[in-house]
Amino acid sequence: MGREQTMDHTRVPVLEALEAFRRRGDVVYGPPGHKQGRGVDPRGLEILGEGVFRSDVLSLNGLDDRRESQGVLSRAEELMADAVRADHAFFSTCGSSLSVKTAMLAVAGPGEKLLISRNAHKSVIAGVIVSGVEPVWVHPRFDAGLHLAHPPSPDDVRRAFEQHPDAKGMLLIPPTNWGTCADIEGVADVCHAHDAALIVDEAWGAHLPFHSGLPAWGMDAGADIVVTSVHKMGGAIEQSSVFHLRGDRVSPQVLKQREDLLGTTSSSSLVYASLDGWRRQMVEHGHDLLEGALRRSGRVREALAAVPGLWVLDDEMTGPDAAHDLDPLRVVVDVRRLGIHGMQAAEWLRDRCHVDIGVADTYRISGQFTHADDDRTERLFVDSLRRLAEEADTIERPPAVHQPEPRAFELEQAVRPRDAFFGPAEQVPAEKVVGRIAAEMISPYPPGVPVIAPGEVITAEIVDYLRTGAAAGMLIPDAADPTMDSFRVTAD
Ligand SMILES: Cc1ncc(COP(=O)(O)O)c(C=O)c1O
Repeated sequence: MGREQTMDHTRVPVLEALEAFRRRGDVVYGPPGHKQGRGVDPRGLEILGEGVFRSDVLSLNGLDDRRESQGVLSRAEELMADAVRADHAFFSTCGSSLSVKTAMLAVAGPGEKLLISRNAHKSVIAGVIVSGVEPVWVHPRFDAGLHLAHPPSPDDVRRAFEQHPDAKGMLLIPPTNWGTCADIEGVADVCHAHDAALIVDEAWGAHLPFHSGLPAWGMDAGADIVVTSVHKMGGAIEQSSVFHLRGDRVSPQVLKQREDLLGTTSSSSLVYASLDGWRRQMVEHGHDLLEGALRRSGRVREALAAVPGLWVLDDEMTGPDAAHDLDPLRVVVDVRRLGIHGMQAAEWLRDRCHVDIGVADTYRISGQFTHADDDRTERLFVDSLRRLAEEADTIERPPAVHQPEPRAFELEQAVRPRDAFFGPAEQVPAEKVVGRIAAEMISPYPPGVPVIAPGEVITAEIVDYLRTGAAAGMLIPDAADPTMDSFRVTAD
């Protein structure tokens, strides 16, 4: 479990380098072309602020010299690794969407098998398509009453390895968008018993290393690689991702080189600097800040549980056939009893209360609390949801979304995702699509988990679900036809 931090966490190499760059007054004859804001249109500057551009600096001959001899980035990454009990940490400026692909490529190459929890984010399925990895889907555990998919259990993973002993590893996704978590330690044991690596997509879990009252942090629970999006539950700016490595099942050089295949050569210093600052803040104050956030989300839950019509989901999401654990900072509220959809609730809250909800689907909404919340935001959330419950009768009754039985989501994989995606394809009207093989991803957003992945056989129940969902306001940005009137399928 936890190791002690051994480094000097008052140091922030990226922020210090940025400060020194500004102090020296370096004049740059390379990118970025706005030259630390001097060339930015004043109307944009007024909205974005000068600081953003002044801190937008190249790594080479900017934050560091031409040979990177100051080791600015590597020192910041070492500090991050030390802070979260990893052997190595790598910063990425392309979100977990890229980090998760890097992790997959480091564990399984083209044609090799990787077990993947089928409730994966679309970036994982994209990784399968781009890399040519052969996915073996491990289906999540569907709760038919709550209409929720929880991460698979160690036994689910064990069964998958029994059928595919040549699989190189497993990719697990905890917490989900709804804060449900997996038994990472149990799954890690199963993977390691098969000499396979465990990748944990902990995009929603950047805060987990910093408070023992939170669900397990993948690096403590035996995972080999853990991917996080620090911008999601942490305090760095959008696109700030870190992938972490522990143990010797995956070589750091391999991981770094696979990242190099995908990453940008123009990394954002804003991302690096905000990751650096977050790590210092968490090491110094993380426990207290998160303690405050946990108390706050507990109070919010309690207050909302007393509101007629709101169903705050808690213990019902965990158990032997459900999730292993929950992130208490996600407040998940089922709004079915109000006679409206979660999507409508989110729209109403934005329109009437200027409250923007993180995740909403047919049945529920979820608000996340972080170390950044305060008494005002706590009160606003509770008051706004109370108002929603009181005024829900004034919201138009929603069209029905035909939710299929849980097993209907387990579509047959007829063709490899990569072959279906890149092969000849045609757009076919919804009426004629049943039985055809999808050539696209179809991922209602959020949470962005593909209901259909390329290569899967399309069924009547799923078409009905997606069409009634789209009619009720489901956002499906990756489909060729987001209205779901037609689908992109492999050409016969
Ligand atoms: C589980 C999961 N993994 C990966 C990602 C991709 O993360 P990012 O938005 O940082 O690219 C997301 C995004 O929502 C996600 O939910």
